Amino acid sequence: MKTIRIKAPATSANFVCGFDIIGFAVESPGDEVELRFNAAKTIRITEITGSDSLSSNANENCAAYVLQLFCQKINTRQGLDIRLHKGVPIGSGLGSSAAGSMGVLYAANILFDSPLTDMELVSLAMQGEAFISGALHADNVAPCLLGGITLIPVQDPLQIISCPVPPDLGFVIALPDFELPTKEARKVLPETIALKTAVKQWGNVAGLVASLFRKDTEQLAMFLRDHIIEPARAALIPGFYQVQRAALEAGAFSCSISGGGPSLVAMTRHPSASGEIADAMKNAFTGAGLSCRCYVTRISKKGCERVDT
Ligand code: HSE
Repeated sequence: MKTIRIKAPATSANFVCGFDIIGFAVESPGDEVELRFNAAKTIRITEITGSDSLSSNANENCAAYVLQLFCQKINTRQGLDIRLHKGVPIGSGLGSSAAGSMGVLYAANILFDSPLTDMELVSLAMQGEAFISGALHADNVAPCLLGGITLIPVQDPLQIISCPVPPDLGFVIALPDFELPTKEARKVLPETIALKTAVKQWGNVAGLVASLFRKDTEQLAMFLRDHIIEPARAALIPGFYQVQRAALEAGAFSCSISGGGPSLVAMTRHPSASGEIADAMKNAFTGAGLSCRCYVTRISKKGCERVDT
């Protein structure tokens, strides 16, 4: 039976100040997903590698959940087997659930001869994000599917705008050795904010998007400040401010939380300085009593990609 194999990239949501509305795909890490028909008329997860903590029960797994939604939407009772090879760590702030579910949806759309549009695939994957985190957001699933930097200005009706990718940006992602489920990271967020804080934040978001479209990375740096989410979540990540300072002192022009954390993402206009930034972040996490791994990467213009042909 035909097997479709898909590579799905990790993603970093929020782009510092664009909570829930901006995210980008990175070149590494990524998941690999395999999907094939079975004769059992049921959706099964036959293998998971790269993670011990992910449930292979089809009723608890996000990728299997969105595949059920896909099958309902196209009105089929066809059985399907999923194999997940996790490269994106779970609970890392790197869009692990998005990579698994978007990869499976992309594979399913190929297996069934493209019945759904990209927008419909993103909408289904958003249901998976809500299943896992309790909140609908597309800032991981949209860039995971489409690659590059995506802006989701409106969720209903869903709108996705692909932003230009500055050519000279390098990223260092430092992932400390503990899991932080998005659901937990969202519990600490304020329900209301002061108007003057909101004005600062939407000014930064507007400046960020304008800088991307002007391909002006020097100007971009001015707007990468988060007045709302980072202050609330920093306490969830031991050593957050020390790691942030270490990255900036080592030459990064921005360092903040990737998605819901606990990974921190630092940006540089000099990708050759990435090794030094990674060492500085690692040392700072060690100083806070945490071991961490670092990914030195770039924005990926590719999203989900078929790799079995
Ligand atoms: N925008 C979401 C959040 C992304 O920050 O909670 C979760 O990966």
